[in-house]
Amino acid sequence: MRVQIAPVDQIPNEAGLRLELEGHRIALFRVGDSFYALGDRCSHAEASLAEGEVFDDEVECPRHGAAFGLADGEARTLPATSPVPTYSVDVADGVVYLTIDEES
Ligand code: FES
Repeated sequence: MRVQIAPVDQIPNEAGLRLELEGHRIALFRVGDSFYALGDRCSHAEASLAEGEVFDDEVECPRHGAAFGLADGEARTLPATSPVPTYSVDVADGVVYLTIDEES
């Protein structure tokens, strides 16, 4: 399912935006012209990654500092060891869309 989110210029740069869509908690990130979406639940102890700080291509969990790749959801530093889900994001005519795979 592809869901319209918002015009590009309404998405804060280098910060997370928390979304609740179709029962999924999602953290949407913008880094310049690139957009990423991760499950908004740290795989270590469930903190909100949307509240984390963005460093280049990673977000740092606000609770214990594990870093996750924005593009692949992989846990890059301890204490997290498991990845978080990723969602596909695309931009059409200046509007951001997010695709939710029904099975994710
Ligand atoms: S809750 Fe995210 S690193 Fe612990």
